[in-house]
Amino acid sequence: MKEKILTYLTDIQNFNPSNFEQIELFRIKYISKKGLVPLLFEEFKKINNEEKRETGKLLNDLKKIIEDKIISFQVNNEYLNLDSTEIDNSLPGNSYSLGSRHPISLIKNELCEIFIKLGFTIIEGPEIEDDWHVFSALNFPLEHPARDMQDTFFIEKMPDILLRTHTSSVQIRAMEKSKPPLRIIMPGRVFRNEVISARAHCIFHQIEGLYIDKNVSFADLKQTLLYFAKEMFGEEIKIRLRPSFFPFTEPSAELDISCKICKGTGCNVCKYTGWLEVLGCGMVHPNVLQNCNINPDEFTGFAFGMGIERTAMLKYQVKDLRLYFENDIRFLNQFY
Ligand code: PHE
Repeated sequence: MKEKILTYLTDIQNFNPSNFEQIELFRIKYISKKGLVPLLFEEFKKINNEEKRETGKLLNDLKKIIEDKIISFQVNNEYLNLDSTEIDNSLPGNSYSLGSRHPISLIKNELCEIFIKLGFTIIEGPEIEDDWHVFSALNFPLEHPARDMQDTFFIEKMPDILLRTHTSSVQIRAMEKSKPPLRIIMPGRVFRNEVISARAHCIFHQIEGLYIDKNVSFADLKQTLLYFAKEMFGEEIKIRLRPSFFPFTEPSAELDISCKICKGTGCNVCKYTGWLEVLGCGMVHPNVLQNCNINPDEFTGFAFGMGIERTAMLKYQVKDLRLYFENDIRFLNQFY
C-alpha cells in the first residue's frame, strides 16, 4: 500500500493541468467518492496495526496534497475558463450599503448654503489659537472669566496658546488679512472646558457670520437673520431679538425663533415660553474694528455666531448632545 501511495504522489507531483477540464478529471480520479483515495482508505482499514501509523500519515498527506493542488489551480486560474463571450455584462453589480452624512455635516452644509445665497463666502481658521485672536482683539477685558483655565483649554501659558473657544477668532484673522467689504461665514470646531452632559460638551461646532461694509446697520442684521430663520426652520417662523452682551459687539442681541412645536403657545421644548434661543449677534464693536486696522468711522458691520449642534437639536428635536459624538450607527442612519 505504501508503494501505491508513493507512485500516486510522484504522479500527482508531475501532473501539470492547463485547463479546468483536466483538473476536474484529476479530482474525479483521486478524490471523488469512487476515486483512488477513498479506495486507499478502504484498504487502510485492513492493514495490520504496526503499519497503520506510518501509512495513515502518508495517506492523509496524499489527500491534502491533492486538495491543495486543486484549490491552488482554481485560485490562480479563476478567469481561465471564461472567454469574453461568457461574461454577462448585463448582470447587476454588487450593491454596497452606503453610509449617511453626519447630522452635524448636514446642518453645516445647509447653513452654508443659506448664507452663500446671500453672497457670503466660506472661510476657515486654525483650531489652535493665541490669546490675541480669541480674546484680546475681540475686546475681552483681562479679567474676563473665559480667559480662566476653568473655561478654556490652554496649551501653553505666556504667551498664551489655546484651543479656540469660539469661531469669532476667525473674524479677526479675516479682518487682519482683507480690507472691507467682507461678507463671510466661518464654520468650525471649538473647545470649552465643560463637563460633558446632555446639554454641554467640551468639543462642539459653531458657525460665525461677519459682514463689514459702509453703512451696515442693525436693520441689515435683523433682515439677514429673518431670512436665515425662515430658510432653516420654515416660512411660518417668527423671530425676536433680545438684548444681550458680548465684549466684541455693541449693541448685542440674542436671536430667538418661535417654537415650531407649540406654535408659540408654550410646551416643554420651549419651556413654556413659546421661544427658542438660536444664536448670539450684534454690531461689531468699534474697538474690534480698530484692532484689525479698519476705520470704525468709515466702516460698520454685524456679526453672529451659532452652535451647529444646537441648531441641529432644534431642527431634529434631539434632546441629548452626546448622541452627536457617539457614532452609533442606529442614530446616524436616521439622517441623510
Ligand atoms: N462668539 C459668541 C459665542 O461663542 C457668539 C457670537 C458671535 C456673538 C458673533 C456675537 C457675535 O457665544
